[in-house]
Amino acid sequence: MCGIVGYLGKRQATPILLDSLSKLEYRGYDSAGVAVIEDGKIRVTKKVGYLNQLKQALKDDQAVGVTGIGHTRWATHGAPNEVNAHPHLDCTGRIAVVHNGIIENYLALRERLIECGHTFKSDTDTEVLAHLFEENYAGDLKQAVSNGLKEVEGSFAIAVISLDDQDTIIAARKDSPLIAGIGKGESFLASDIPAVLEYTRDILVIEDNELVVLNGSGVELSSLIDGSTIKREPIVVKWDVRSAEKSGYEDFMLKEIFEQPHAIRETMMGRSYQGRLVLDEIKLSDKDIKAIDKVFVVACGTSYHAGLVAKYAIESWTRIPVEIDIASEFRYRDPILDDKTLMISVSQSGETADTLAGMRHAKEQNAIVMAITNVVGSTLSREADGVLYTHAGPEIGVAATKTMVAQMMALYLLALYLAQVRKSISLEGCRRILRELRGLDVMVQEILDDEVELGLIQQYADKHFDKSDFLFIGRGVGYPVALEGALKLKEISYIHAEGYAAGELKHGPIALVEPRVPVVAVACEGHVYEKVLSNIHEVKARGANVCAVASKGDKDIGKYADEVLYVPRTSEILSAVPAVVPLQLMSYYIAKKRGCNVDQPRNLAKSVTVE
Ligand code: F6R
Repeated sequence: MCGIVGYLGKRQATPILLDSLSKLEYRGYDSAGVAVIEDGKIRVTKKVGYLNQLKQALKDDQAVGVTGIGHTRWATHGAPNEVNAHPHLDCTGRIAVVHNGIIENYLALRERLIECGHTFKSDTDTEVLAHLFEENYAGDLKQAVSNGLKEVEGSFAIAVISLDDQDTIIAARKDSPLIAGIGKGESFLASDIPAVLEYTRDILVIEDNELVVLNGSGVELSSLIDGSTIKREPIVVKWDVRSAEKSGYEDFMLKEIFEQPHAIRETMMGRSYQGRLVLDEIKLSDKDIKAIDKVFVVACGTSYHAGLVAKYAIESWTRIPVEIDIASEFRYRDPILDDKTLMISVSQSGETADTLAGMRHAKEQNAIVMAITNVVGSTLSREADGVLYTHAGPEIGVAATKTMVAQMMALYLLALYLAQVRKSISLEGCRRILRELRGLDVMVQEILDDEVELGLIQQYADKHFDKSDFLFIGRGVGYPVALEGALKLKEISYIHAEGYAAGELKHGPIALVEPRVPVVAVACEGHVYEKVLSNIHEVKARGANVCAVASKGDKDIGKYADEVLYVPRTSEILSAVPAVVPLQLMSYYIAKKRGCNVDQPRNLAKSVTVE
């Protein structure tokens, strides 16, 4: 996730671009840059680090110019350094581009453009756009952009300026957000509304597959598909800037829960070709993969729960034995690893001290170490032999939500890739799972769009927010989901909650069950479903109120549970993704009802860089 901005008008562009970027820093902050047309050339300034570095660099020496674009970066392709920071230029320095999104076919485009004589400076997917537009330019920038984008697969929100058309910014969008702000004799462009609210409240929301031209006479919209003109009235935004940063959501956590379909799509993007997974980024040869005889998954907190889900997937799909451990335990024990062990460290931040120590511990024993992380350039990603990034975008809420879902997706992809290479699943079987993985974003969207379901969860929160203990139970992948449900609830609402493997109840925890302790049972379709039903019976017999998370179409569960939160049906191992969503919402609404600060719960930090 990155942020893009643009300005065209009569004022100096640089201060406006910097100010707009400062409202988008939540979208990424590993480097930033601006390009402004000054005196017949495009002047580009980029800096690594927070936006402040760029502001410092431009403090006493800014381009004099009224047309410019800017970018704050959250690296996806290429390390966070100055060369990879945006804006990117074509070979001639006459075209500058900023981009948010992922160009899936950038390698193929890059090779072709190199063959045509173009010279690349960065490792980014974005730079291909600048060269592509250069290649397509025949006197009309709009046409060059629109033709060039026809060749692009993936997601993008882009802004383009050119010396050949100095009073124009061309922008376009597909699967990445983009808005235009309409002022008096000036126009603005940004990934998100708060970036321009200081200057105008008249906002044109750009839709997918639309191209927008900003020039002296205003803003013109057209279709990227057939070039037809599109008429749309701007909306007048009345929110204050703070709530606008949350796109109208009350809290970052809620916004991030609703961003999960997008996080799933971004994490899937560019990782398969013609029904086969392509994960070159993990830097494991087929020979290495075939030699693996043991997998360790090591992580903390929510990332550990995502790792637990991976255990089920890897064992079932590859038949490689998997051990999973909490990083703070793993780092101090004497595990048995060697160069045939694949050690997967899962960490949203990539900076968790225990997870890093665990990875180093495994490296000392020659294990192949792999990172699953959301932060490009994080210590974990730098020290690992290979990295699979979750492209969830920055997560501001301390409680992990969209990053967990993205971690599960990345882990499923990794597990399936191992199976594909080792041929432990037939090609058709791999394709089927891949298709199902591709459908998970829609399933999560379905839950989030279901007003009735959201209403039920809120009613549940109203009924139980004053309880002091909760039990979460599940089997199979429902077990890590139960652990996550309990963790979410305790960390943001401060209610004591325990997650248990449902079969463990009778070995102790069932002593806690009584009418005052609500039980949440994860009971999606699968080979342990009947067993979970028995566990629901056990707790009901002791007077508990039971809320079940179950698969849509389940006609029986309603006879046993007091409340049922239905989620779309998928295959058993993948069901962790839809099943966790109602539990995130449940803890959110309970915490809100209790008046808690859900984005910054007490005693917690987003990144635990100390032991
Ligand atoms: C819970 C939560 C924490 C983190 C844990 C690991 O909502 O956010 O439990 O999951 O601190 O952090 P990362 O994934 O950054 O290593």
